[in-house]
Amino acid sequence: MEEAPLHVLAAPSHPDPYAWYARLRVSRPLFFDEPMKLWVVSGPYLVQQALNDVRLRVRPLEEPVPRALQGRPAGEVFALLVRMNDGDFHARHRPQVEAAASSWSAAAVAQAAEAATRDLAGRCDPNALLSAIPVQAMARLLGVPHAQRNATVDWVHAFVQGIAAGASAEALDRADVAAVALMEQGEREGLSRVDAANRIALMQQALDATAGLLGNAVRAVLVSGTDEDAGEIAARTAHQDPAVHNTRRFAATQIELGGERISAGDALVLVLVPACPFGAGPHACPGERIALQIASSALRTLQSLEPLSQIFGAVRGYRPLPNARIPVFGEPHLEQAPR
Ligand code: HEM
Repeated sequence: MEEAPLHVLAAPSHPDPYAWYARLRVSRPLFFDEPMKLWVVSGPYLVQQALNDVRLRVRPLEEPVPRALQGRPAGEVFALLVRMNDGDFHARHRPQVEAAASSWSAAAVAQAAEAATRDLAGRCDPNALLSAIPVQAMARLLGVPHAQRNATVDWVHAFVQGIAAGASAEALDRADVAAVALMEQGEREGLSRVDAANRIALMQQALDATAGLLGNAVRAVLVSGTDEDAGEIAARTAHQDPAVHNTRRFAATQIELGGERISAGDALVLVLVPACPFGAGPHACPGERIALQIASSALRTLQSLEPLSQIFGAVRGYRPLPNARIPVFGEPHLEQAPR
């Protein structure tokens, strides 16, 4: 039998964490994990309450921008992201992000994802493909010129890797270069610095989360052999094997939650499985529709190009991420090679 996940941040990369989550939300809906110094909130009602509580912030009050990023171009972009701000700044700028996210028709998103998939399949290994498709699809929707498309996908990857906790000095340098290049793209289109940063966010947020949705949908097809429509598979996967398993909050002041006293400065992990895979409250994902459309269209296109088992080998595990669930596929050709 599979060992249970060691803790909540190990669950997204566990082969099958869902029975463990179900036990957790019944037996320990809210507790302080002493070794990790984190409140773990998994009771669905408490998670909803926490996501809607404006006293729980997306960043620690004393460190709005991670120390490693402060004073650097990547840090400047980070500071302007709606995802990383609360209060007035968030309320003022979130509407532009929502407007941008709802400005593309379903047909336009499907077309961009299909074109990105056709362009990338055959020249990316299966794991790189999962991440590159959503970013290239978003870059197409944002009107990035053909000549800059590959560079844009690389810059978005570099930015995401550089702003991740524990990034190396080299990754930070690459994120700075990427941040400058991506901001220039937006400013060339006449966007303010805030809008240019949140234009990057549309590609950055698409990356890991949509790669996870697409990868988990591909796995569902490979495992079950279903011939259902790609749209239904993607929609079901988004809820049954979701891409984002948790999100963080930091108490700005002392609060009561579920009968516990949470002190100012305490960190919380909110478990989004299974009730709200796209979040809820003021920071709820504005890209849900786009994510589902990109994943459906990409899956449908991949299936039309070749049987999925010719593109993706067996799932070897999951990327070692504390919040996102992205399968790692083997190379089918290597797996079929004679020993
Ligand atoms: C399967 C794919 C996706 C999943 C599971 C997902 C999930 C989420 C979740 C859970 C949040 C809330 C985080 C929090 O409250 O702490 C979020 C925020 C966000 N997502 Fe997504 N997302 C996905 C794809 C996308 C795409 C494709 C876009 C862009 C087109 C996008 C744009 C955003 C933005 C801008 C935010 C920040 C919103 C704010 O802070 O006000 N997401 N997403």
